Amino acid sequence: MSGQGRIYLKRLALSGFRNYQSQALALDGRHVCLFGPNGAGKTNLIEAVSQFSPGRGLRSAGLPDMAQVQEGQPGASWALGATLFDGDLDRSIRIEASLEGSGRGKRVMQVDGATATASSLSDLVRIIWLTPAMDRVFAGGATERRRFLDRQTLAHFPTHARHSTAYEKAMRERNLLLERDRADPVWLDGLEARLAEHGAHIAYHRKVTVDRLQAAVELRPDSAFPKADLGLEGDAEQAFVGGQTVPEVTELLTTQYRDGRRRDAAAGRTLSGPHRSDLTVVHRPTAVPAALCSTGQQKALLIGLILSNARALEMEEELRNPLVLIDEAVAHLDPDRRAALFDELSSLQGQAWLTGTEESLFNGFQDRAQFFRVEGGHVVENA
Ligand SMILES: Nc1ncnc2c1ncn2[C@@H]1O[C@H](COP(=O)(O)OP(=O)(O)O)[C@@H](O)[C@H]1O
Ligand SMILES: [Mg+2]
Repeated sequence: MSGQGRIYLKRLALSGFRNYQSQALALDGRHVCLFGPNGAGKTNLIEAVSQFSPGRGLRSAGLPDMAQVQEGQPGASWALGATLFDGDLDRSIRIEASLEGSGRGKRVMQVDGATATASSLSDLVRIIWLTPAMDRVFAGGATERRRFLDRQTLAHFPTHARHSTAYEKAMRERNLLLERDRADPVWLDGLEARLAEHGAHIAYHRKVTVDRLQAAVELRPDSAFPKADLGLEGDAEQAFVGGQTVPEVTELLTTQYRDGRRRDAAAGRTLSGPHRSDLTVVHRPTAVPAALCSTGQQKALLIGLILSNARALEMEEELRNPLVLIDEAVAHLDPDRRAALFDELSSLQGQAWLTGTEESLFNGFQDRAQFFRVEGGHVVENA
């Protein structure tokens, strides 16, 4: 990538996407505040931005769900366009989804008019987000924390998605094979070798991400968003913490899968591996595990982690500032915390996109942000 300036969206255009028929936003590089009543289409806008990153975006929606429903009928296609200033040049990005034919639809991406892949898009820009659905991350089960961690990890390692998909596929095949009375051991060996290889990469990416996150936590100001002590539970992740290498951890996992065959066949699923790992988070000011913190403390911790990840990404030499999408969080903060959030976001390079019901929620940003009123699938800049 050329140039070292900050990356931001200059333009976002939606057509036939969610409740937008056809809409374009012109952006000047400042943060973006979207305000308007419930159901106006604020989250839909940042969901559109999140489509420019690998995976399914911030609602984890399938392509057909995002097609505009009109008079009860979903559209046959939708499209998003953006102009990304990459610190040096304007790059034009386009995503077109067509939903005819197969049930899940098809998506085509272009950068500067040439066909692109999700991974070439992540060479241009990284995107992270905070949504109300993440509120349960500490109180909920390991699955939710893993999903949260893997989301953060994906912003650091775009290939994480490919390893996760391949891992899940190999695991499903292994589980099916173990159901048979006499599974072919050569076939099992092969599947477990694949599981172990992808599993080792998954655990390695997570371990590096947690290290980077923790380093960024230490660099953040002591603000309204408390610092956290992070840890990883999982044999493979722990092996990396202990200094082992990817080939060594691949070996470790291979042995675990082989030794676990009888147990896993009885259980009907694979009981060891990085699909069972967990992220541990401790609220540093009180040394209390996040799961036991108050809802307000958990929310503040979560915002702190997202801010830390934005900083962590900015600190990586080969990466630059991510886009940061923050859905609805501002309304739950008192005025001091709100001011602290705006100050921290402004100390980062990334363009932040924030939503809220009232314009006044964002007063503390003053002229550091652009304001847009959203209503009924229409967006108007509030100059
Ligand atoms: N595929 C779709 N087609 C048309 N409208 C949709 C679609 N998906 C969601 N919506 C509408 O979008 C609105 C919700 O938008 P959202 O961005 O979540 O609102 P908010 O401003 O509260 O964040 C709702 O009115 C919902 O009915
Ligand atoms: Mg919303």
